[in-house]
Amino acid sequence: KKGNYDHFMQKEIHEQPHSLTTTMRGRLKDNSVVLGGLKEHLKTIRHSRRIIFIGCGTSYNAALAARPLFEELSGIPVTMELASDLQDRQGPIYREDTAVFVSQSGETADTLLALEYALANGALCVGVTNTVGSTLARKTHCGIHINAGCEIGVASTKAYTSQIVAMAMMALAIGADRISTQARRQAIVDDLSNLPYKISEVLKLDGEMRDLAESLIDTQSLLVFGRGYNYATALEGALKVKEVALMHSEGMLAGEMKHGPLALVDETLPIIVIATRDGCFSKQQSVIQQLHARKGRLIVMCSEGDASSVRPVESCKVIEVPQVADCLQPVINIIPLQLLAYHLTVQRGYDVDQPRNLAKSVTTQ
Ligand code: F6R
Repeated sequence: KKGNYDHFMQKEIHEQPHSLTTTMRGRLKDNSVVLGGLKEHLKTIRHSRRIIFIGCGTSYNAALAARPLFEELSGIPVTMELASDLQDRQGPIYREDTAVFVSQSGETADTLLALEYALANGALCVGVTNTVGSTLARKTHCGIHINAGCEIGVASTKAYTSQIVAMAMMALAIGADRISTQARRQAIVDDLSNLPYKISEVLKLDGEMRDLAESLIDTQSLLVFGRGYNYATALEGALKVKEVALMHSEGMLAGEMKHGPLALVDETLPIIVIATRDGCFSKQQSVIQQLHARKGRLIVMCSEGDASSVRPVESCKVIEVPQVADCLQPVINIIPLQLLAYHLTVQRGYDVDQPRNLAKSVTTQ
């Protein structure tokens, strides 16, 4: 079942041009988005006072990646909840809220308990899942299937990118009644259609990521700095590295750098800075300069052709990725980090598909 691949995680990473195609199949029509499972509820969503994203782990990170586009196209405040934390706090949820539950398996205990809680409080509950007939799919009022195909590797890869794309389509559908954003929505739809091709391009970095992994094999720790659309990429890249390569790794909001993390910077600690082109580019350029001034061991991810604009010194490792619409860039940017986590795991001799202590579906609290 792994075909030409050694591991399911590897197969699932390389499958992403296809899985994203199936996520979008039949849903992009005449320059607009049609989501059958949401159609009847779009009006209610548009009138809600708040959208709350709820999930755990990678699914939470996918929602975080989609959040800026949701805010932009809907004009509705969007808040984020880790499912366990929402329960711990018994945070307020109202009838006027739309609660969006994101879960690959649709069976994660914390997410399902948060769903019971939101239902009891009268919110409109929307499910985003990869599993038809799952508890999440059955108990929510409406939703979307991400159609990424069965994911076997415990580390979520193709489901993550399909979740982001499914939520981007959802944001487009919610914002479809606004004339003011029509050109923006059109540009995003165009880039969605090109996304599978761009993913096959970025997958060509496989060998480069294998070499990068080799240079990092013995490090104790790895930091990933992102912001804006790619704050989620930093969190998700670091999560992949820690869960499969069993290496300490933290994703950080670059805007928080001076509020503590900067103290960690020295010549030995590798730091990946995501600096692809978007509204935060110049801020990330200055982050790179500041890290370099403190002799940080930098690895910079940038848009194709930007190496010389981001590299503080010739010796700095640069990962160049294809550019797409800013809101879809997280789908591209996570791929080299998935590949890096995969190769680090193989080279460090750990189990790729079944990481220590982890289960694919966390059905207990
Ligand atoms: C990480 C990973 C986990 C899951 C989390 C939620 O690679 O797979 O962080 O994302 O346990 O699982 P689902 O999406 O099934 O609710």
